[in-house]
Amino acid sequence: MTLLASVLPAFVLFTFTLAATAQSSNTTSCKPEVHPIPAEFKTRNTFAAKVRSPGSPWQDLQLWEVPLTEVNTSSGSSIYHYGSIGYFDFCTDVEVILTYNRSIDSVTIRPLSYNIQSAVNGNEITFMLSRPRNLVIEINGDIWDVLHLLSNTPDPDAPTGNSSSVVYVGPGSHSFPGGSINITSGQTLYLAAGAVLTSTINFYEANDVAVRGRGFLYQPPKGGILAENSSNILIDGVTIVTPGGYVVTLGQTENATIRNLHGFSSKGNGDGIDVFCSKNVLIESVFMRNSDDCIAIYAHRWNYWGDTRNVTVQDSSLWADLAHPINIGTHGNTDSPEVIEDLIIRNIDVLDHREPQALYQGTIALNPGDNNLVQHVLVDDFRVENFREGQLVNMRVMYNEKYNTSPGRGIHNVTIRNMVYNGNHSNLNVLVGYDEERTISFVQFINLTVNGEVIYDTMPKPKWYSTSDFVPMYANEHVKNLTFVLE
Ligand SMILES: *[C@@H]1O[C@H](CO)[C@@H](O)[C@H](O)[C@H]1NC(C)=O
Ligand SMILES: *[C@@H]1O[C@H](CO)[C@@H](O)[C@H](O)[C@H]1NC(C)=O
Ligand SMILES: *[C@@H]1O[C@H](CO)[C@@H](O)[C@H](O)[C@H]1NC(C)=O
Ligand SMILES: *[C@@H]1O[C@H](CO)[C@@H](O)[C@H](O)[C@H]1NC(C)=O
Ligand SMILES: *[C@@H]1O[C@H](CO)[C@@H](O)[C@H](O)[C@H]1NC(C)=O
Ligand SMILES: *[C@@H]1O[C@H](CO)[C@@H](O)[C@H](O)[C@H]1NC(C)=O
Ligand SMILES: *[C@@H]1O[C@H](CO)[C@@H](O)[C@H](O)[C@H]1NC(C)=O
Ligand SMILES: *[C@@H]1O[C@H](CO)[C@@H](O)[C@H](O)[C@H]1NC(C)=O
Ligand SMILES: *[C@@H]1O[C@H](CO)[C@@H](O)[C@H](O)[C@H]1NC(C)=O
Ligand SMILES: *[C@@H]1O[C@H](CO)[C@@H](O)[C@H](O)[C@H]1NC(C)=O
Ligand SMILES: *[C@@H]1O[C@H](CO)[C@@H](O)[C@H](O)[C@H]1NC(C)=O
Ligand SMILES: *[C@@H]1O[C@H](CO)[C@@H](O)[C@H](O)[C@H]1NC(C)=O
Repeated sequence: MTLLASVLPAFVLFTFTLAATAQSSNTTSCKPEVHPIPAEFKTRNTFAAKVRSPGSPWQDLQLWEVPLTEVNTSSGSSIYHYGSIGYFDFCTDVEVILTYNRSIDSVTIRPLSYNIQSAVNGNEITFMLSRPRNLVIEINGDIWDVLHLLSNTPDPDAPTGNSSSVVYVGPGSHSFPGGSINITSGQTLYLAAGAVLTSTINFYEANDVAVRGRGFLYQPPKGGILAENSSNILIDGVTIVTPGGYVVTLGQTENATIRNLHGFSSKGNGDGIDVFCSKNVLIESVFMRNSDDCIAIYAHRWNYWGDTRNVTVQDSSLWADLAHPINIGTHGNTDSPEVIEDLIIRNIDVLDHREPQALYQGTIALNPGDNNLVQHVLVDDFRVENFREGQLVNMRVMYNEKYNTSPGRGIHNVTIRNMVYNGNHSNLNVLVGYDEERTISFVQFINLTVNGEVIYDTMPKPKWYSTSDFVPMYANEHVKNLTFVLE
């Protein structure tokens, strides 16, 4: 709570105090809550789903249809696929039963690190959840027509209507005139469980503002939530499905918390969460499946100016159908150079990454351009599943002429601890400094584990081999003080 206390406005804090109490002292009494999907939105029936508390009657869980895309590498156009989203709220111990509409040969439930055990009987799959989780249920190796099964705890402090500080969007379908709403200082937009809003939400120069609840922001015309020149922001609990535009953009914004967000996109440039020139940003417990970078951290672009500092991304699952799960550094200000620093990325499951272009690979990419300096980065507990195509890690001080007007200034002081990769689709990993002035310096991998093998400088190897050969990774002559240690 000390952390929250420093970043959140009082009215939001109050909510969190209640939530924490409810979760710790009263968990057994809250049964699963399912929310009907308004008739005008598409549902999908590859799966049928039911949930219940043990011993209680089953409840049907309606499933949304969600568009997903893959790039056609011949034409550049999008190949559309469709999957399902199931969303419900509960506290503890639910049984889930899924019926697949074809026969089942194999079931994979991601993140694999959750180790969820399922039983298959004919075309039925059953499993238990002991707390809200965000899962992808993949049958017979089909990565598209999956069920994204998402959940939160019920909100113990949901408002019930409008007030001077709350814009309440209740169950059912809603939109605001012109397709967007501006939330002004002191206001919360509350998306109730079962609410579906089809408008973009903007914070312009707004302080002490929030979007929270358990509802959906569905195909808003200009991306999900845009915060510019704003401070003390909370985004909590909502699900955003946006075709194009970013799911959430933070531009020149200070003190932002994004948590329990589920974000999907399905068009080119459909990034998840983009952070520009912002400070004190906490992103946690999010599930992102995007048609471009899931999380991107930059400095200057467009009308956003200044350094980016103190960003934490934790306890989250990322699936990038294009580009990077995490991308850091591309955009900055050549004339008045900026810094992107003090980044913590921890306890992350990368569920997928597919990027055929060598210059845009890396489940985590540190790619400063535009005179950016990226420094003081800690990555800890970063688990990478068997992604389709790309690299585990890519660090380049780059001059990407498509986006940059100068090379980056460097990458300095990066610790990557407990990165675990189990898979066989990683291309050669790349660490490339630009020149002797624009280097990569002091990168340390601690306990890097690739397919069960720990890679460290004193591992058994021919003396003349580089440790990086065992990742494998190409590190050029402008990379200084690269070390691999056991612990
Ligand atoms: C952001 O939070 C810090 C720490 O609580 C506080 O000092 C600062 O004033 C806040 N910034 C704004 C713009 O409110
Ligand atoms: C426990 O929480 C549930 C749901 O929030 C509420 O309905 C119930 O009244 C609470 N029970 C007690 C004993 O506080
Ligand atoms: C299964 O569901 C999908 C999606 O709704 C549908 O396209 C397909 O025809 C269904 N297949 C069978 C065998 O029912
Ligand atoms: C990809 O694009 C090529 C060239 O336009 C086209 O022939 C092919 O059918 C497309 N593939 C898919 C799966 O859409
Ligand atoms: C709540 O306020 C919003 C925005 O002013 C409005 O669109 C909506 O109709 C109000 N809801 C109710 C239930 O009055
Ligand atoms: C929202 O604020 C922007 C910037 O001030 C303004 O241009 C726009 O008209 C506002 N939109 C609405 C719907 O009030
Ligand atoms: C960094 O951001 C976190 C929120 O993620 C905040 O709690 C903390 O006070 C910030 N640290 C500094 C030094 O501003
Ligand atoms: C944010 O505020 C600064 C300073 O007032 C201004 O220069 C900049 O244009 C603003 N950016 C946006 C996106 O409104
Ligand atoms: C390196 O970065 C870490 C944070 O990841 C920081 O604690 C440490 O002080 C930095 N070291 C140097 C030498 O700057
Ligand atoms: C690739 O790895 C997966 C899982 O880690 C394994 O099932 C598969 O057999 C491997 N394929 C090859 C060609 O090694
Ligand atoms: C090293 O990584 C492995 C996972 O590959 C993990 O099981 C082990 O606990 C880690 N060691 C330490 C000291 O953190
Ligand atoms: C960094 O590497 C250089 C050689 O590349 C070496 O001389 C220096 O001692 C190293 N510094 C540290 C602190 O390890």
